[in-house]
Amino acid sequence: MTALDNNVPAHVDPDDVSINPSNNPSIGDVVAQRVELSRRGMLMGTAAAAALTFVGAPLLSRDAVAQGAAPAAAPAAGALKRPTQLGFRAVAKSLADTVSVAEGYSASPLFRLGDPMAANIPAYKNDGTDAAATYAMRAGDHHDAITYFGMDANGRYSTSSTRGLLAMNHEAITPAFLHPTGPTLTGTGADQKRTVADEVMKEYYAHGVAVVEVEKAANGGWSYKQDSRFNRRVTTLTPIALSGPAAGSPMMVTKFSPQGTQTRGTLNNCANGYTPWNTYLTCEENTAGYFRRIVATDDPKRSDKEKRALARYGVAGTGRELWATMAPDTADNIHGRWNAEVTGATAADDYRNAPNTYLWTVEIDPFTPDAMPKKRTAMGRFAHEGSWLGPVVAGRPLVWYSGDDSRGEYIYKYVTTANWDPADANRGAAAGDKYLDSGKLYVAKFNADGTGEWIELRFGSPQINATTPGYAFTDQADVLIHARLAADAVGATKMDRPEWGAVDPVNGQVYMTLTNNNASVRSLAALDAANPRHYNDKRVNGTNQYGNSNGHIIRWQEANDNAASTTLRWDIYLFGARAGTDPQNVNLSGLTAENDFSSPDGLWFSNATGVCWIQTDDGAYTDVTNCMLLAALPGGVGDGGAQARRTVTSTNADGQTREMATIVGAPAGDKVRRFLVGPYDCEITGITETPDGKTLFVNIQHPGEGSPAASIGDPSKFLSHWPDGGMSRPRSATIVITKNDGGVVGV
Ligand code: FEO
Ligand code: CA
Ligand code: CA
Repeated sequence: MTALDNNVPAHVDPDDVSINPSNNPSIGDVVAQRVELSRRGMLMGTAAAAALTFVGAPLLSRDAVAQGAAPAAAPAAGALKRPTQLGFRAVAKSLADTVSVAEGYSASPLFRLGDPMAANIPAYKNDGTDAAATYAMRAGDHHDAITYFGMDANGRYSTSSTRGLLAMNHEAITPAFLHPTGPTLTGTGADQKRTVADEVMKEYYAHGVAVVEVEKAANGGWSYKQDSRFNRRVTTLTPIALSGPAAGSPMMVTKFSPQGTQTRGTLNNCANGYTPWNTYLTCEENTAGYFRRIVATDDPKRSDKEKRALARYGVAGTGRELWATMAPDTADNIHGRWNAEVTGATAADDYRNAPNTYLWTVEIDPFTPDAMPKKRTAMGRFAHEGSWLGPVVAGRPLVWYSGDDSRGEYIYKYVTTANWDPADANRGAAAGDKYLDSGKLYVAKFNADGTGEWIELRFGSPQINATTPGYAFTDQADVLIHARLAADAVGATKMDRPEWGAVDPVNGQVYMTLTNNNASVRSLAALDAANPRHYNDKRVNGTNQYGNSNGHIIRWQEANDNAASTTLRWDIYLFGARAGTDPQNVNLSGLTAENDFSSPDGLWFSNATGVCWIQTDDGAYTDVTNCMLLAALPGGVGDGGAQARRTVTSTNADGQTREMATIVGAPAGDKVRRFLVGPYDCEITGITETPDGKTLFVNIQHPGEGSPAASIGDPSKFLSHWPDGGMSRPRSATIVITKNDGGVVGV
């Protein structure tokens, strides 16, 4: 099922799609303004920028944090000083099938695919023969985002750095390794079918979220507690409430929930977030591809409006894992629910609307294992990478930032209606209903002059209403369910695949990785100041690869340092590149052998140290190195000073060129350093820490994913045997990283 080839570890990324057909004016069309802008000297650090210095209201005090604000809440303003130096020597790039970590540190696996999470579950055999039902309480596959919640002796949130709950996402699966000889399939092409129910059930369980208790022993070693009462799996089979403005919409009605108030399961859980009341947010990314909808069969049964929405969200095809084809189905349509075609008399008789019940931010209370999770529809429906909490300030709205991870999609933020009351920190998920069911959803527009705007997606606005060209919105539920279409209508800026965001605890500025883009979506004509590069990078097989092959990291400062502001100023913090490439047009951040990277994905700030951690999910630099984790000490928006304003010349495969003005942060220098390189053919994604900063938990996803499926019986052909070694099947896993002298990591 995974496209596998003997020689090329082709990571076929389902995110590698672009289905944004909007012709929003590229801000690069204003290239003629470039000369004018530079003449006016609109450099960061000028008077306009000075007017935006940090004047925000005081953030939460240390006491408020200790009383149970967020698991990694931003410290009080001014309380955290970033060090001036990183405290380790860079790790070399590597193609070894192992985890290489900086000298003086140790990294060891803690929680691997299939590890048992209840007393009666046997150890994982990892040969495909583990009973399907046991997967309901095993670690899932493809570990992704992760958050540590400290826990006290009474099972409540605390700032403990020795006992806690890890909540983590299991985004997807490598099907070949879950079954004795890979997935059993019959037929070919569009008629290909699944036939073994146990295999499909394993796959349902292997997706979703795990909550698992972890503990630090007196000798400093970490383990997870197999029989903890807090251990929990939320999978594609778990009933989940639909909450907020889109709950009960006719567009959410399914046979499972004729009232449109529930759905079954969560899926493709990518990045995450948390709340100041210590609940976990898991974000549903590219779920559309799991549904079966044969366009030629289904389109004639759909209205023009439905067809537009289905196309914009990419609901088309046979379904990534072919789950809808599993027959016979169960009485409650465990398998048939993946068929998004019109098959019944009404929406309450089939699953035509099932795709609308995914792509949300989902709230899970890790401290209440029997509580039903809630999909928070006020935060909008798109391929959420994650939902990242902005600075928490008493008396102000709370803000979460999100990116939509597909090529050419947008950056969003959600601003609560209610102002933050620190007394809500101990109310658990009840606080979620107050803050996450009512708010405003905005989308970002990045202007060529280094400013930007947040544009509200509100039904009844001049661009979003019943007469919007191409899509007649019905109500706010329709706007939230089809946030991409609303964002198209207001002219949001198409980005180079937004992955993770992170909020700097030192100054509240927001960073977001734009992992890469291809030549067709980011053509020369489509360049803009915030996505300014198109160049050649050779991939592992030597094929020329044009576009923004190595990605970049954008950052912004909200006006008045108020996360709820509707204007901002931005620059580009780092550009991914190979060391030694053209410093004027490709390697704009001056990366060297100690810190060159490609395709930034995971991004996270330590609230203990202020170190920014960057993780990669790359397919462009894999001839030289496996994916990696880097540590960085950023300055802030405008730290490029007099060198910030640049003109980048891009060249496409036909030799045509185009100049684009952009705004670049300070060179990486020794403030960015490679800390860890993962095993072969993996992605490094997901990172969290204990509050004392002495333990990092990092996820290693899909080592050896590109192994030849046809050779599943010949382990010598597996591309990775990590973490168990020998001739074992590779496993995604959480690793624990500590400093050998017991100190704080990274500094
Ligand atoms: Fe699941 Fe956007 O990576
Ligand atoms: Ca990702
Ligand atoms: Ca990625």
